Amino acid sequence: RRLRPILALEDFEPAARRKLPRPLFGYIAGAAETNAAHHDNRTAFAEWAFRPRYLINVSQRSIATTLLGQTYRAPFGISPMGISAMMAYRGDLVLARAAQDAGIAMVMSGSSLIPMEDVARAAPGSWFQAYLPVDEKRIAALVERVARAGFGTLVLTVDTTTMGNRENNIRTGFSTPLKPSLRLAWDGAIRPLWLWDTLYRTLRHHGMPHFENNFAERGAPIIARNVERDFGARDHLDWSHIARIRQQWKGKLVIKGILHGEDARRASAEGIDGVIVSNHGGRQLDGAISAFRALPEVRAAAGGMAVMMDGGIRRGADVLKALAMGADFVFVGRPFLYAAAVGGEAGVRHGIEILGQEVDRNLALLGCLSPEELGPQHLMRIGGIPQ
Ligand code: FNR
Repeated sequence: RRLRPILALEDFEPAARRKLPRPLFGYIAGAAETNAAHHDNRTAFAEWAFRPRYLINVSQRSIATTLLGQTYRAPFGISPMGISAMMAYRGDLVLARAAQDAGIAMVMSGSSLIPMEDVARAAPGSWFQAYLPVDEKRIAALVERVARAGFGTLVLTVDTTTMGNRENNIRTGFSTPLKPSLRLAWDGAIRPLWLWDTLYRTLRHHGMPHFENNFAERGAPIIARNVERDFGARDHLDWSHIARIRQQWKGKLVIKGILHGEDARRASAEGIDGVIVSNHGGRQLDGAISAFRALPEVRAAAGGMAVMMDGGIRRGADVLKALAMGADFVFVGRPFLYAAAVGGEAGVRHGIEILGQEVDRNLALLGCLSPEELGPQHLMRIGGIPQ
């Protein structure tokens, strides 16, 4: 019943705002500093228009896509998002199971509160995203743990040299460690649905949430761990770390957070299987270009690597624009976490369904049989005139 008024991915946001305590909603919705990078993720799509073709028989079309040797039922997946088990009861499992059911890709965050082994067991097709620990031995141990858990694809997020400046978190009272305060208690008290659905059930059945996966061993509880300090201590990581991981990791290796053609070229030279072009949803370097704008350059430099992107995708039309601009596959972040918060697994399934239908409908309206047919010939900058 809660899902009936949700007709588009963007409808999940106001519903999640009503359900979640303000600091948690703000943590999802927020970005860095002036939000310029975050806003440009949407503006970039709005600057381009489609050039459809008609009277092509598209009755046999399919939106299924092959990526890194796997076939997915749609050309989009779910971006990694940290601490999602605070937003929805067993959040990572909710996202992973819904994605598995729908046959789409899901990337589990390394900053999550549920052990990676549980997610791999529940949804064996999931990918794992790692934030690299500082210490070399712990990097090797983490990679080994991810392999032992059974993940086939490891995603290394590289745009977190240090923690982005998210003033918004301070304004809304979100921090790690999560400090119990009167304000937090009040925010929770006026959100009884979240208190019951998520917090109470979590504490009752699983105890205090811990950062389980940042490092090789079990991390500290959410009320004790200063994640921002951990991030600041990792600003020495460079390509030599990537090269060593490439030697150790036998599965597919993906780098997330690339925005420059030269970095894509280097990734390809290091034997990386794919890149996710991303500005981290505008949450890291404010004013960074949007992934959509970076796509043509990265595509040209990527060689045989898979080129994926995320940031600002809210509609099937955005998915198709990204594919036409050179992406092989896209990921969507915030809307699916809102969906998990609002409606659990059914909510996420509903979101996947909506987006899949939009992709399919617009693919037909463009005159294409499959996502692979899309190219620059389907796009024009708004304001231009076809020659
Ligand atoms: C993120 N993002 C992220 N990225 C990552 O590599 N590891 C992580 O743990 C997280 N955590 C995280 C939490 C939350 C609440 C958000 C909103 C985002 C970034 C994420 O993977 C993705 O790049 C962006 O969210 C994509 O932009 P949209 O779709 O949210 O606009």
